[in-house]
Amino acid sequence: MSNNNDLTENELLDKLQKLKKNTTKASEGGDDNDNEGGEGTRGALFSAQGRFKGGTTDPIMEKFNESLSFDKRMYSQDIRGSIAYAKAINKINIITDTECTSIIGGLTKVKEEWDNGTFVIKPGDEDIHTANERRLTELIGSTGGKLHTGRSRNDQVATDTRLYAVEVEKEILQSLTTFIVSGAEYALEHIDLLMAGYTHLQPAQPIRFSHWILSHLAPIVRDAQRLKELIPRTNVCPLGSGALAGNAFGVDRTFLAEELGFDGITLNSLDSVCDRDFIVEFLMWSTLFITHLSQFAEDIIINNLLKCVDISEAYSTGSSLMPQKKNPDALELLRGKAGIALGRAVGFTATLKGLPRSYNKDLQEDKVPFFEAVDSVKDCIAIATGVLVTMKPNKDKLLEALCPEMLATDLADYLVRKGVPFRETHHISGAVVRLGEETNTSVDKLTLEQLQSIDKRFDDDVMNVWNYNESVERKSSLGGTSKRTVIRQIQECLDFALSL
Ligand code: ARG
Repeated sequence: MSNNNDLTENELLDKLQKLKKNTTKASEGGDDNDNEGGEGTRGALFSAQGRFKGGTTDPIMEKFNESLSFDKRMYSQDIRGSIAYAKAINKINIITDTECTSIIGGLTKVKEEWDNGTFVIKPGDEDIHTANERRLTELIGSTGGKLHTGRSRNDQVATDTRLYAVEVEKEILQSLTTFIVSGAEYALEHIDLLMAGYTHLQPAQPIRFSHWILSHLAPIVRDAQRLKELIPRTNVCPLGSGALAGNAFGVDRTFLAEELGFDGITLNSLDSVCDRDFIVEFLMWSTLFITHLSQFAEDIIINNLLKCVDISEAYSTGSSLMPQKKNPDALELLRGKAGIALGRAVGFTATLKGLPRSYNKDLQEDKVPFFEAVDSVKDCIAIATGVLVTMKPNKDKLLEALCPEMLATDLADYLVRKGVPFRETHHISGAVVRLGEETNTSVDKLTLEQLQSIDKRFDDDVMNVWNYNESVERKSSLGGTSKRTVIRQIQECLDFALSL
C-alpha cells in the first residue's frame, strides 16, 4: 500500500483530479438508468412546470422515489377509484356529463391496456396514480387533467390500498375455508386411527390421529375469525380527504364510499391519509397465521421422520448428492416463512413510529412488505392444503409409536374410580412404571401379583386398562379425543366454514 516516493504538491493535485473524475463517473447513475447524460425526467404531470423550473432530477432520486414497479398491481383499484371520483365531481358540476363520459371511457381503455399487457410505462411515471393519469390524458386530451380536481395522491393511494386489501382479505378467507373444509374431511376419513400424543416431545397419552389434525385446524379457524374482523376496519373510504385538509369542492364522500363498495367513510382527513393501521393489522395477522403453519409443518416433519405419515412426492425434493433422500422441503419452507413474516410486521410498524401528521413519503414503504405478505400467505395456504390432503398416515407405524407406559395415567385413574385420591394413585402408578423399568418388563406385562405388591387395591379387572382404544374413548368430554367428541369437532369446523 505505502509508496515511498513523496509526491509534489502538484502531482498530488493531479492525482486528486483523476480520482475525482473516476468517482463522479461511477455515481452518475447505474446500469438501469435509461436517460442519456445521467439526468432524470421530472414527472410531466406536476413537477415539470409550476413550482419546479422543468429541470431534471438526479436519476438515482427517480429510482429511489418511484413506486410504480410495485404499486402497478393496484392498477384496477386505482382506475375504479378514479371512475368513482369522476362521477362524484360530475355530481358537483366540476366536469360536465360529456367530460365525465369521456374520462370514464378513457379510464376503461387504460384498464384494458393493463389487462392485456399493452400499457407502456414512460419515464416520469412515478407511481400507478401518475401513470394512469398520464395515459388518460394522452388518450382523451386535456379533459383528463380535470380528474384530479380536489384530489391528492395521498387520499388516492390510501383508497387504492384499502380496496386492494379488502379484495385480498376476502380471497384469503375463501382459501382458508377450503383449507379448513379439506382438513375436516381428511380428519373424518382417518377417524379410527390412533397415534401417540406428546408433551415436551415425550410420549404422553394415546390420541386419535384426527384429533391431532384438528388441533392444527383450530388455530386456523381462529385465524379466519381474526381475518374476517379486519375487513370492516379496512373497508372504509378515505377518498375526499384531499392532501390532508379535506376536499375544497364539497365532494360527496358518502356517494364515493357507496360507489366503491366501502362500508363507511373515514373520520378525519389528516388521519385518513396517514392511517396504515389496516396494513399493520394484516402484517400482524399474517405473522400469527404463518406461525401456526410453521407449527403444523414441524409436527408433520417429526411424524414423517417417525414414518407415521408419508408426505407426497409432490411436496418433497431429492438431494443433489444423496440418492436415498426425500426431503420435506415444502414443510421446511412453511416453517421458515414465519420468521420473515414477523420481520415485515415489526419493520413496517417501526417505520410508522414517530411519524408526524399527516402524509409523509415514508408511508410508501407500506406496499412492499404488504404485497410480499399477501403473496406469501396465498402460497403458504396452497402448499399447506396440498401437503395435508395428500399426506398418507401409516397405521402400523402410528401404533408402533404407542407404548403401554402412555397408559400410566389410565392406571392411576383406575384406582381413582375405586375411591383412591388421585395424588395417591399418581404415586402408585409411578411405582408401577418404576417396577417395570427395574424388572425390564413392559408395564402391561407385569402380573397381578407384582401390581398388588405395590398396592393391594389392584384387582383382576386392572388388565382392562391396557387398551389404547378404551383409553382414547374415555376422553369423552367436549374437545377430547373420543370418537364422538372428535366428530363433534369436525362438525364445528364445517359449521364455521359454512358461516364464513
Ligand atoms: N406513491 C405514493 C405512495 O405510495 C403515492 C402518494 C404520493 N404522495 C405524495 N405527496 N408524494 O405513498
